[in-house]
Amino acid sequence: MVRFSSRWFHAVATKGAFDCYGILLLIPLLLVGCSYEPPHFLPNLVEIEIEQDEDEPVTREQQKTIADTLLALFGTPDHPVQKDSKEGTSPLKSFGFDMGKVEIAAGKTYSDAQGKQHGLYRLHCAHCHGITGGGDGPTAPFLNPYPRDYRQGVFKFKSTFGPAKPTHDDLKRVLLEGVPGTSMPSFRLLPDNEIEALVEYVEYLSVRGETEIQLIEFVAAEGEMPGTVAEIAGGFPLALDDEGVPEDEPEEENVVASVMYHWLNAPSQVIRPVTPKIDYLDPNPEELAASVKRGEKLFYSKDMQCNSCHGDSGLGDGLQEKYSIWFKWRENLETGSDDPEKIARVVHQFMEAGALKPRTIKPRNLRLGVYQGGRRPIDLYRRIYSGINGGPMPAQGTEQGISGDEVSDSDAGGSIPREQIWDLVNYVLSLPYQPLSKGPPQRAGSKYSPR
Ligand code: HEC
Ligand code: HEC
Repeated sequence: MVRFSSRWFHAVATKGAFDCYGILLLIPLLLVGCSYEPPHFLPNLVEIEIEQDEDEPVTREQQKTIADTLLALFGTPDHPVQKDSKEGTSPLKSFGFDMGKVEIAAGKTYSDAQGKQHGLYRLHCAHCHGITGGGDGPTAPFLNPYPRDYRQGVFKFKSTFGPAKPTHDDLKRVLLEGVPGTSMPSFRLLPDNEIEALVEYVEYLSVRGETEIQLIEFVAAEGEMPGTVAEIAGGFPLALDDEGVPEDEPEEENVVASVMYHWLNAPSQVIRPVTPKIDYLDPNPEELAASVKRGEKLFYSKDMQCNSCHGDSGLGDGLQEKYSIWFKWRENLETGSDDPEKIARVVHQFMEAGALKPRTIKPRNLRLGVYQGGRRPIDLYRRIYSGINGGPMPAQGTEQGISGDEVSDSDAGGSIPREQIWDLVNYVLSLPYQPLSKGPPQRAGSKYSPR
């Protein structure tokens, strides 16, 4: 029996079934034989490292209890659907997951006698997003931006407001369209049932990862688990109102239900824009030009200061030094210490725990006409209204204003009337076609302004 280092094994395992023929060239290994060791979910050591800074570290024993609890609730990468011996059902079902879909996406990659593909996640996603969904598959270190770490439950390109979860359709849209301008590909060629299974599996990995983070945080703060495994798995079914949205938040010890609450709540958070004045299928040129002009003014206005990040010409060359939420620990380090050696030491410690090399987030170059969250006017409306989750791009709207024409602008809050968001959309959409040297009207003499 040969043991591989876990990192190396993780890399091999993500490619699917471990195949003895594939290592014929490794003669020393051949001499001692080889075996299939199923991949396992890796513990979130980065989150533990974050919590270790606090007074009470999470002990090894507590880490084991957390791992055992997650195993009981979510199973393994090969067998996510654990059969509960008493009830004959998996807790996943009571959490609201479609187990048939989860099972098709999970596990080893193979096609069955009917030609049905199994192990879809490992086939299509794991080399980037990692078996555990930590955004840390073997390809990840070479990509910029890095693949999403689902475990934080933070998603960027969605129709819902602020930190609200994406809807099922939002995730489906990401899989169909990909994320343009990044390495996240489109999976449009896959049949619909496979896309559905993959979306379900992303939700499963995300809920699992968030549950783990909440358990780590609770144990770090209280020195004990929030409840028994049954309590952590309990609280279902959540009572839903007519629109299918949960009525009350679950109890604190019902950790999974507390995480699921936000997923089920997502449809009530969808941003429905006020009806645009421009008919995008047949725009009136003068009206559009006037809207673009108004948008330009807003872009450079004191309230918005879009140019402070996106640069005076929209090239994305403004503020550069912010970290996204996945690397907040790096930013916190910087504010806590000005000793570069200490910072380097702690960063090394985090990378030993599995973190990727921290990178700051660049504001988008709005001159390229490539929009990661979709290029339709409504996509840009939602991006500007809500900001982009997980990073510095700020929201211009508020939760009260999300329900379209049903809310009057005076009730909508936010820094500008919602009609003006469309002006910003139109200005942003016009930027790739405008001469580059357009600087802010009020800042003649700045880097890109005409002389
Ligand atoms: C070649 C690498 C790669 C592969 C393969 C890949 N992704 Fe991604 N994925 C990325 C990157 C990079 C991002 C982050 C884009 C960003 O931050 O703008 C991403 C982002 C995402 C997001 C988050 C979108 C959001 O709104 O925040 C989801 C969901 C996702 N991928 C799902 C999948 C699924 C499911 C698969 C397999 C079917 C897959 N990805 C395959 C690289 C990849
Ligand atoms: C504090 C910095 C900051 C400010 C202010 C800011 N942005 Fe951004 N913006 C960003 C960053 C960073 C990104 C990239 C986010 C990402 O990739 O996750 C971004 C992305 C975008 C995108 C790309 C959306 C997509 O789908 O690719 C648009 C459009 C945009 N910003 C418009 C605006 C407008 C309009 C304003 C002013 C109302 C504005 N931004 C203000 C930092 C900022």
